[in-house]
Amino acid sequence: MNQLLNYITYLFKSTNLHGIHSPFVYKLVKDIIYNRKIKSPNFKAIENIRKSMVKNSYPMGGEDFGAGSLKKGSKKTIGQFATSSSKSAKYSKLLFRLAQWHQPKYAIELGTALGISTLYQASGFSNNTTFITLEGNSELANLALQNFDKMDSKKPELILGNFDETLEKALEKTPQLDWVFFDGNHKKKPTLRYFNQCLEKASENALFIFDDINWSNEMKEAWEEIKQSPDIYLSIDLFFLGLVFVKKRPQKENFVIRF
Ligand SMILES: C[S@@+](CC[C@H](N)C(=O)[O-])C[C@H]1O[C@@H](n2cnc3c(N)ncnc32)[C@H](O)[C@@H]1O
Repeated sequence: MNQLLNYITYLFKSTNLHGIHSPFVYKLVKDIIYNRKIKSPNFKAIENIRKSMVKNSYPMGGEDFGAGSLKKGSKKTIGQFATSSSKSAKYSKLLFRLAQWHQPKYAIELGTALGISTLYQASGFSNNTTFITLEGNSELANLALQNFDKMDSKKPELILGNFDETLEKALEKTPQLDWVFFDGNHKKKPTLRYFNQCLEKASENALFIFDDINWSNEMKEAWEEIKQSPDIYLSIDLFFLGLVFVKKRPQKENFVIRF
């Protein structure tokens, strides 16, 4: 119910191209965010992998980071998890377009799950991108690794374990950070902690993408604090995803864009 109200508020507050006064944001929205003509030859293969995951009726095992339980005593199947937790094709393709446009040298994803969003991002990155993805559930991580093997593109490195430990390990491997997709542990305190850890390594052009910024009050509060960070100059709220840019600009600007 809360999310429905949040969505209605978003529809009222959001603007399309006509309401964007910043030339940089106008071009980004027109050429990349709205441009569904940009495609990858990998889309079909990744969607086939998604389909095979959705059909998987094995109960989810492995460590529970809040994603596995349906209700007490019952377990989600891999298929139910794939349906509810992997980013949809619409948003995954947006991640691909942004990845291809941004071309980061060093990229991290928090929350690999079955590797669907990982494969979309990897398809957009160049072979020169160092891409590390983090997952805490060993069963999901194994399936993700099998899914990476089904693709010809450069494979990301997967680090297994709790973000509380693995993010530090990933940051040790990256001299700078140009891209982060935060898609796991949607609670306020850990989200802000991971954001601040990543910010310390952020390059001048870094783009950080947050999933589900309107999912709960905690995530809404986290998003407000992230936007207000003195190191963030530009934010774009797409309701299900939030984008923040670290690059210094003459003034701070926040956009709510209909997507
Ligand atoms: C929403 S799913 C990620 C979906 C994936 N990005 C996609 O769209 O295909 C979130 C994942 O984060 C993992 N996760 C959540 N909290 C975690 C934590 N503290 N440490 C490690 N993994 C965690 C969960 O196991 C789950 O697989």
